[in-house]
Amino acid sequence: MIKNTLFLRALKGENVERPPVWMMRQAGRYLPEFMEIKAKYDFFTRCQTPELASEITVQPIRRFGMDAAILFSDILVIPQAMNIEVEMKPNFGPYLPNPIRSRKDLDSVIIPNVHDSLAYVMEAIKATKEKLNNEVPLIGFAGSPWTILCYCVQGQGSKNFDKAKELCFTQPDVAHELLQKITDTTIAYLKAKVNAGVNAVQVFDSWGGMLSPTDYEEFSWRYIQQIIDALKEEAPVIVFGKGCWFALGEMASSGAAALGVDWTCSAKNARYLSGGNITLQGNFDPSRLLSPPAVIKKMVTQMINDFGKDKYIVNLGHGILPHVPVENAKAFIDAVKEYKITY
Ligand code: CP3
Repeated sequence: MIKNTLFLRALKGENVERPPVWMMRQAGRYLPEFMEIKAKYDFFTRCQTPELASEITVQPIRRFGMDAAILFSDILVIPQAMNIEVEMKPNFGPYLPNPIRSRKDLDSVIIPNVHDSLAYVMEAIKATKEKLNNEVPLIGFAGSPWTILCYCVQGQGSKNFDKAKELCFTQPDVAHELLQKITDTTIAYLKAKVNAGVNAVQVFDSWGGMLSPTDYEEFSWRYIQQIIDALKEEAPVIVFGKGCWFALGEMASSGAAALGVDWTCSAKNARYLSGGNITLQGNFDPSRLLSPPAVIKKMVTQMINDFGKDKYIVNLGHGILPHVPVENAKAFIDAVKEYKITY
């Protein structure tokens, strides 16, 4: 049995002494111990070597004692397993040299056997579970099909993912087939992760907010709903849609256990839009971790008061930035642990 149950209880909507806390991208470049490993091994070697991935996963837990760990990996291991080449270029980010722009490109995209091509992820989960020693739960994750399509079609990060949208709007049949292939692979992948030992899964729809509400429905949400339907009996599902406040109402009745919120949506609005009953996760502006520790602590306490201590998981509104001082990240976590109801 896992000793720290705050996170899993919050996902069930149960009352807690204080809300649980973790940070998106908590295993990352703001940590000197992460940078030491990064200096020796390239990105996909770190992802594919269970000893390295598990070590990186537990680094922030050892240092700060968050209430949940998230497996070190990347959303782009999915297109890689689907026979789409993915490189991680230093100081550039993801680069896919052969983007999917036509039906012919789509023909080479496979639905892999995840137990073979992503076996290294399952091994990393097992190694991490051993290191965590049942102290805290482990989160597994995947990108949403739309967010994965963004990279597969654009070929790299982008301010507006115009080429990804162009494919959707000019060759919708190709886009939908690609989205369905990604969805089928993602469902098999997340089920395998749960079998390997993760206690909850998060779907990152990092670029969902690029779409209009109507297009979101067609190109993103309906595929996320398939993932929730397939997973919800096996593990709690958290959906984080960056910029997707407009969809919170629909998301709240989807079977998801919790919804991520970014910092552009107030706690009050997020509660209102999601109907007030579902667990919410978020939404500290990642740049606010650059404020002095005393300011961070005050703002975190205010944020908990705004969301309420129950049905709430403290997190950032998106991933932690690489240049955040370690003591500022610590102030964020400590503020939650020191939380006492003050209203
Ligand atoms: O949260 C965690 O600590 C687990 C690790 C994690 C990584 N990527 C490691 C990583 C998670 C959950 C992700 C998810 C991910 N990857 C997302 C969704 C979440 C989000 O932030 O929106 C996306 C869009 C990606 C794709 C991706 N991977 C990008 C855009 C980049 C480069 C951007 C950058 O910050 O430089 C990556 C690389 C990456 N993935 C790094 C890490 C720690 C940094 C590069 C490195 O370590 O060499």
